[in-house]
Amino acid sequence: MSYPYQITSLDAYKAAYKKSVENPDEFWADVADNFVWKRKWDKVLEWNFNEPKVEWFKGAQLNITENCLDRHLATKANIPALIWEPNDPDEHHRILTYKDLYNKVCQFGNVLRNNGVKKGDRVCIYMGMIPELAIAVLACARIGAIHSVVFGGFSAQSIADRLYDAQAEYIVTCDGAYRGNKDIPLKSVIDDALIGNRTIKKVIVSTRTRTPVSMLKGRDLWWEEEIKKVETLGMTECVPEVMDAEDPLFILYTSGSTGKPKGVVHACGGYMVWTNYTFVNTFQYTPGDIHFCTADIGWITGHSYIVYAPLSAGGTSLLFEGIPTFPDAGRFWDIIEKFRVNILYTAPTAIRSLMGFGIGPLQGKDLSSLKILGTVGEPINEEAWHWYDEHVGKKKCPIVDTWWQTETGGILISNLAGVTPAKPSWATLPMPGVQCILVDENGKEVTEFEDGVKKGNLCIKAPWPSILRTTYGDHERCKLNYFSTYENYYFTGDGAMQDEEGNFRITGRVDDVLNVSGHRIGTAEVENAINMHAGVVESAVVGYPHDIKGQGIYAYVIYGNMHGDESLTRKDILQTVTRVIGAIAKPDKIQFVTGLPKTRSGKIMRRILRKIAEGETENLGDTSTLLDPLIVDEIKNNRLQ
Ligand code: PRX
Repeated sequence: MSYPYQITSLDAYKAAYKKSVENPDEFWADVADNFVWKRKWDKVLEWNFNEPKVEWFKGAQLNITENCLDRHLATKANIPALIWEPNDPDEHHRILTYKDLYNKVCQFGNVLRNNGVKKGDRVCIYMGMIPELAIAVLACARIGAIHSVVFGGFSAQSIADRLYDAQAEYIVTCDGAYRGNKDIPLKSVIDDALIGNRTIKKVIVSTRTRTPVSMLKGRDLWWEEEIKKVETLGMTECVPEVMDAEDPLFILYTSGSTGKPKGVVHACGGYMVWTNYTFVNTFQYTPGDIHFCTADIGWITGHSYIVYAPLSAGGTSLLFEGIPTFPDAGRFWDIIEKFRVNILYTAPTAIRSLMGFGIGPLQGKDLSSLKILGTVGEPINEEAWHWYDEHVGKKKCPIVDTWWQTETGGILISNLAGVTPAKPSWATLPMPGVQCILVDENGKEVTEFEDGVKKGNLCIKAPWPSILRTTYGDHERCKLNYFSTYENYYFTGDGAMQDEEGNFRITGRVDDVLNVSGHRIGTAEVENAINMHAGVVESAVVGYPHDIKGQGIYAYVIYGNMHGDESLTRKDILQTVTRVIGAIAKPDKIQFVTGLPKTRSGKIMRRILRKIAEGETENLGDTSTLLDPLIVDEIKNNRLQ
């Protein structure tokens, strides 16, 4: 399989970009022609950002798994689709060829069908990084069920909220998951999430750690036994459900600046085309390349660039169960050497954390197979960029800095490896079809350059094929969050600058969303969790620069009556946050305060709290309009280092 839509020169990029803007219908029809459709579209694109309503490839029918699996069987049956490296390097890795993966997806699709799962049903998947996770995802897609993968680090309460919001009726999980030297009891977390739940019909449990688990009669089933059942029934084929291009493929929950996480909905056709197109172009994927994306499938990066895009491109995707520092900080390099990895796609936070170990762990590791490096999830600082370039890529691998979001489904801004120029810390140029615009607070386009750049809030003027279609069960919220801040634009929530060559540099969120180790967390969510702790009167959470995590979480907490040890109370609060959201949302710092800086109308002045957390206590701006200006001095004086 070659990719006629692969862009291989700067001029070709410019031509593709131009055409994608001037004639999007023809442009995307040409790309989409390279996929397997049961029925072609009547119309390529129909949209307005008012409702919002976006429809790509309307009238077309397909099943994404036929594109990810069936169509490769003729020529690639024995080629590895997935390579799985376990957490423990002494355990044997697994290789699933296209034929193997096809068989397993069909088998599990049949298990789901045999248990009553139908097109449109929501299936929550809560698993560690094992091949069965990818199999479960694809099996849902095969039978038209909508998967909603929840990252293994979220708590029972978070799962319960998501189950309720998605009105899910089925869960696929594992007994436990290995991560570094930890054994995470996933099924037991699910059991806690299901206390009092009456809507979940079946929980299918795959065996990984063989941790003792409670299995409820009539509800809980072992994956392996269910496979045997469908085999006994002679179910081998699994006819793919015919999906409309606009039918939902999955829901993925993500944090916003207010309220609970929202379920971002992606549609089958556009998501397939966009993830494949951006994969082939950004990474300049060549069939046979081993692609190692270190993300978890519980996040959008894993959905798009571990599962769907590499497979729809007939590629080989490496799935790693563990963490970069187990058993030591050379683990990524061992994996690259072991499997002769060609493309490494990871997050700046991982690079920074590995940088902290020096170059010792890299010594003696053969990284000569590497061709292309990628980063995603947060801005990459220049120091980390150069370290990655020098010590990992040995200055011969282009680095792609890919900017995108859960809502965008796939990469929107990135250089194309070795084709368009890289610029350290800059995501550079938009993909064909992505029309970026920088606006000021009032929504007016920023046109003035200052010191060679213009700065503003990053918006997008027109839809690309994998733009989110809605937020599950609440279209109004989708409109309000993304399409109302600036009329007729999709607002990303990010600030950015653009140079005179058109390159973009993303500077970070301009809303109340934090990016901690590449994980997206809403300040409001953390505040709600802290406020649930007995004794807490009020709290305010802000981000601050953190050397490794990118951003750390700083919480200011008003606590009722502090009896005894402050540090114990801190630990108790952390425990509550872990229980309500998960360990990933634990504040790095908790400062107890007697009040918060508020305006006379009662609004917390986060700007001031942010500056104090950042250590910029000198220049706090005008505080005279505050209800209680003295509180600022107290907070400043007791600031945690
Ligand atoms: O702030 C941007 C940051 O991550 C946010 C999206 O987070 P999430 O939906 O979890 O998806 C992460 C993986 C795609 C964005 O709003 N972000 C993502 N990639 C970059 C980035 N910031 C700077 N540079 C990037 N390459």
